[in-house]
Amino acid sequence: MFKGRHFLKTCDFSAEELHTLIDFTGELKEKKKRGIPHPYLKGKNLAFLFEKPSTRTRSAFSVAAYDLGAYPEYFGQGDIHLGVKESTEDTAKVLGSMYDGIEFRGYHQKDVETLAENANVPIWNGLTNEWHPTQMIADFYTLKENWGILEGKTLTYIGDARNNVAHDLLVTGAILGVNVHICAPKSLQPNEEIQALAKQYAAQHQSDLLITDDVAQAIYHTDAIYTDVWFSMGEDHSVLESRINQLLPYQVNEQMLINTMNPEVIVLHCLPAFHDVNTQVGQQIYETYGLTEMEITDDVFKGKHAVIFNQAENRLHSIKAIMAVTLGDLF
Ligand code: CP
Ligand code: NVA
Repeated sequence: MFKGRHFLKTCDFSAEELHTLIDFTGELKEKKKRGIPHPYLKGKNLAFLFEKPSTRTRSAFSVAAYDLGAYPEYFGQGDIHLGVKESTEDTAKVLGSMYDGIEFRGYHQKDVETLAENANVPIWNGLTNEWHPTQMIADFYTLKENWGILEGKTLTYIGDARNNVAHDLLVTGAILGVNVHICAPKSLQPNEEIQALAKQYAAQHQSDLLITDDVAQAIYHTDAIYTDVWFSMGEDHSVLESRINQLLPYQVNEQMLINTMNPEVIVLHCLPAFHDVNTQVGQQIYETYGLTEMEITDDVFKGKHAVIFNQAENRLHSIKAIMAVTLGDLF
């Protein structure tokens, strides 16, 4: 079912396969909590390539590798010749001859695909400009952990809806039978191609999709609210002023939670988040625009509806599940 496959984007997998990964995430979480060893990748050598920074994804891949009995090696931007003095294709051939599996976080989906075409070992996408598939397994596992089921529930994403996370939630939710509402100003709504893809899956899996700029309509009776940063890694900071002006009405705050009319609503964020001024960028934004919070207010971020840090922990268990099934002898 999974052995030897790459994990480049969730829509390469069937709904059944994604559900298997989500459920296996839960099994591995349980094993870890109970201290039951699970060395499914004993003795394997793994290469983790990061062109962009990372806290969660990098930590999750590393800790998961050790828990699975494998040996991780981290390569940051500038550590190897990749893309500068050596093509992605040649790098893939070399790394694939030495390592048993390779993670890549970077800019272009094309690069992770080139690695997959040439490395002859499983390639795992740790985020590109286009997709964030390991995040999706953690997120939908987190939703299932809270809701008990996925099918028929409603997830509302609000904010910059042209980015990797928004696109992936729309498509992955549609495959999994989750109703996905996307709420953003028209110019920041998912691109046409992604909308068309999601609509195809939604028709197959009975998911209702709504793409709107109307906040009240998008959040009414929703089961979860999800937001992400207003400018993503690799975007020029010059977009910031217009993003702030466009997205302030879409900030996740207490009043928005009240307006859902759902006292059980949960709040997710893939992190990192701008909910205070305790970061260099947060401080610069405060000095320039007078804002102390952006996509989510500090009270909601720290409030009782938020499941954000559990969601972050679940990156470990889900990435472990993905590596174990594609490289191990499990399924
Ligand atoms: N959510 C996420 O991918 O976090 P990092 O950028 O820290 O890996
Ligand atoms: N959309 C964000 C997600 C970070 C995990 C980015 O690409 O920067």
